Amino acid sequence: MSVRRLAAQEVQPASFAFTPENAEWAGRQIAKYPEGRQASAVIPLLWKAQEQSGGWVPEAAIRHIAGMLGMPYIRVLEVATFYTMFALEPVGEHFVQLCGTTPCMLRGAEALKKVCHDVIGPQKTVTADGKLSWLEVECLGACCNAPMVQIGYDYYEDLTPESFAALLEDLRAGRPVKPGPQNGRHASEPKDAVKTLTDPALFDGSMVGAWKKRFAEEDAKAKAEAAGQAVAAAANPEPAKPEPTRAEQQKSDSPVARTARGKAPVSAEAREASGNSASSEATTKRRAKTAATVEPTDGSGTKRKR
Ligand code: FES
Repeated sequence: MSVRRLAAQEVQPASFAFTPENAEWAGRQIAKYPEGRQASAVIPLLWKAQEQSGGWVPEAAIRHIAGMLGMPYIRVLEVATFYTMFALEPVGEHFVQLCGTTPCMLRGAEALKKVCHDVIGPQKTVTADGKLSWLEVECLGACCNAPMVQIGYDYYEDLTPESFAALLEDLRAGRPVKPGPQNGRHASEPKDAVKTLTDPALFDGSMVGAWKKRFAEEDAKAKAEAAGQAVAAAANPEPAKPEPTRAEQQKSDSPVARTARGKAPVSAEAREASGNSASSEATTKRRAKTAATVEPTDGSGTKRKR
């Protein structure tokens, strides 16, 4: 995208006014909008000013339109400098807007740019004969036919460096040219062998209502499955009460609950799980060993004779 500035002062006309015919046309455009909304006509008026000025918008036209619409000059300047559809400098009789955005770039826009440089020269310069000028612009919405250019009001698509160079030569010489795809395509259909939508059934009417039939079949299948599940559930009913949760199990096995049920506060399994049982066993062994080493007494503390 190039920087968009107004043309140098030397090429700017001193003044601008719509021709009577164009002024009448502009009046009709302005009248389309409700009172207080006349600024909405800024783009059509800039477009008409560009047509009248030989394909570009002079600064005097921007000021003139601002006055007509009661807009600050800067607001009209903003619109004119934003859209590349408005050329801000003199253009050739055939003004080439070359798309350099990704799809066109991937399909060879760089090679077309080289053709522009070779045939026309740098961007924004008009050839000595006044016939050609060019500018790189962003996507022009014809990516299916990339790479492409807009010349005047027409699109020229599916270009190659050779076909583009030939096109420029024809335009320069005043020979008739054919807008649209330049590779034999009619629009953006497949160029060579058709690779999609090849099933004849798509076109003989046999597919009409196929999607409806498929939905009905899927619906019937889902209903049959649901009915089967209902029968199975009736034959094997689930317990009314679901399995107790882990928290519920822990609560019912608490020492208080166990004692209330007349059981030991801690179950053997719980003791074993916590390692208590192993330590009790060790304690028992330790006690037995101690008993074996202590001298037996007669109960008064006097050691008995063995
Ligand atoms: S990228 Fe070139 S027309 Fe869209």
